Amino acid sequence: MFSRRIAVVGTGYVGLTTGACLASLGHHVTCADVDPAKVDRLKSGQVTILEPGLEELVASGLAAGRLEFVLGARNAVAEAEVIFLCVPTPMGQGGAADLSAVESVAEEIRNLLPERCVIVNKSTVPVGTAARVRDLIGREDIAVVSNPEFLREGSAVHDFLNPDRIVVGCDAQDAAERVAALYARLGAPTVLTDAASAEMVKYAANCFLAMKLSYVNAIAELCERLGADVNDVTEGMGYDRRIGQAFLNPGPGWGGSCLPKDVQALLQVSEAADFDFSLLRSTSDSNERQRARMVQKVKEAIGVDSLAGVRIGILGLTFKAGTDDLRDSPSLAVARLLAEEGAELTGFDPGVPLAVTGVTDAVTVVGDPYQVAKGAAALVLLTEWPEFRTLDWPRVAELLDNKIVVDTRNLLDRDVLSRAGISWHGVGRPTLVS
Ligand code: UGA
Repeated sequence: MFSRRIAVVGTGYVGLTTGACLASLGHHVTCADVDPAKVDRLKSGQVTILEPGLEELVASGLAAGRLEFVLGARNAVAEAEVIFLCVPTPMGQGGAADLSAVESVAEEIRNLLPERCVIVNKSTVPVGTAARVRDLIGREDIAVVSNPEFLREGSAVHDFLNPDRIVVGCDAQDAAERVAALYARLGAPTVLTDAASAEMVKYAANCFLAMKLSYVNAIAELCERLGADVNDVTEGMGYDRRIGQAFLNPGPGWGGSCLPKDVQALLQVSEAADFDFSLLRSTSDSNERQRARMVQKVKEAIGVDSLAGVRIGILGLTFKAGTDDLRDSPSLAVARLLAEEGAELTGFDPGVPLAVTGVTDAVTVVGDPYQVAKGAAALVLLTEWPEFRTLDWPRVAELLDNKIVVDTRNLLDRDVLSRAGISWHGVGRPTLVS
């Protein structure tokens, strides 16, 4: 089997998934992190990220001796043929990506790297970063390749092993080909290009997804005003193969650790390039409005002008279902806005353990959805966890003060709620008053 010695620096969502999946493809992978406690946990096969299939893949990699974990990048790279950088690039000042982690790893390893190895940048970094890292490494024999990752949280392993495409960019063609060969077994279409174009693909794709969501949220608002049903509208749109059914679900606004950060970063880059990207700016602005619109929706559903002292139950806190990630969660953003208006909030999320308190001052997190419903003036569903569909709705109805549910994800079966005597308020769909 074709096998390379690989180092992966950073064991977050992207790094750990990359390391475990590359090991499953037959490569020998050493993953490094700066957090000693995390490295110890991973050495014993404990994965704390909620990601289907990841723990099993880590366990089988460890058992096969193809996956190991070490503390510090310097201890991972000495024998590596390919080194993946998967360190965080958070939003820095003014929305630009903060590259300090990438830069400090480059500094740390540059004198330890084997001859003719290849550095691969998997973190989402601005156009020009591969060139910058090459300068920082400062060695003629070492190429820096951009190989953006497109996996989604909650289906990271599946996405990594079943990619729509592999994008590899480098100004040295042979290095790009060496990196592309690592994925050969996946049989995915491969785009070989220069480093700047590969870096741009990631931003262009994520910002397009954000734009698609802002567009569909706007269409949903218009549907409400015109008496149309957004479910039927998006179904009708999605059969057009140029549009597709994916990413057409309206919601409380898009969030997470990637889309908002990448939109701000591309806006920053555009400004620096003296380009007025008004389309992308309004994509971002309308996302802010969407969150505020959810608050208005709650007020209208309850029939009040003020939420001062009103008890509201929140279903879902994470930025989407299937993850425990609360970073830049639209659910928390809406909860904060509700709290700012004086609402008293109790919340439940299947992915957020009770121990995780201090998630936000706005919400008291409890351990079951029925506690959330108890005495509430309305139940507001903000994250699309499928288990919410099968709650015991007659029991919920008994517990609620007002039998009102605001379903910001259009997740629930409104007929089931109606039969339980609950009024259902969705997004872009006619309200079903019970
Ligand atoms: C996103 C991209 O989808 C991945 O391709 C990319 O690799 C990743 O960012 C990244 O840059 O690392 P992710 O952040 O996991 O993945 O989340 P998404 O599944 O894209 O969801 C983003 C937001 O859009 C969530 O708040 C979600 O609830 C919302 N969403 C998504 C909708 O409101 N409606 C939809 O139809 C789909």
